[in-house]
Amino acid sequence: MKIDHIGYAVKNIDSAMRQFEKLGYSAVAPKYADQQRQINVAFMRNGDYVIELLSPLSASSPITTLLNKIGNAPYHVCYEVERIDEEMEQLRAAGYMVIEAPSVSPAMGGRRAGFVTHKDVGIVELVEGAAPAT
Ligand code: NI
Repeated sequence: MKIDHIGYAVKNIDSAMRQFEKLGYSAVAPKYADQQRQINVAFMRNGDYVIELLSPLSASSPITTLLNKIGNAPYHVCYEVERIDEEMEQLRAAGYMVIEAPSVSPAMGGRRAGFVTHKDVGIVELVEGAAPAT
């Protein structure tokens, strides 16, 4: 499966974006506040590599819990798939636990995305279809 992006949990998305710019990344689009998931999201690109920065919108954000555990760090790899429902079912049958069923992700151009986890692998995100051209 092709890697779509690497997801980083960060405490402060604006200062993280400034630092990643120094590493050669440029913002793909302005940061996006996802009220439903209580996260700020920003995608940045460096050549073929795309990262997703996620910071909490509030203390009740799932990212807050994660940041308290691991600090600023990469925590998921997102793979592009053609049929997310089938792919997720196959991973579930292979021992993965579904964390978040596929749903429309406004920050990813309306593509459907979902999360699974495995004790030997960690968190895996699946996204359906190719990224829109940037
Ligand atoms: Ni992601």
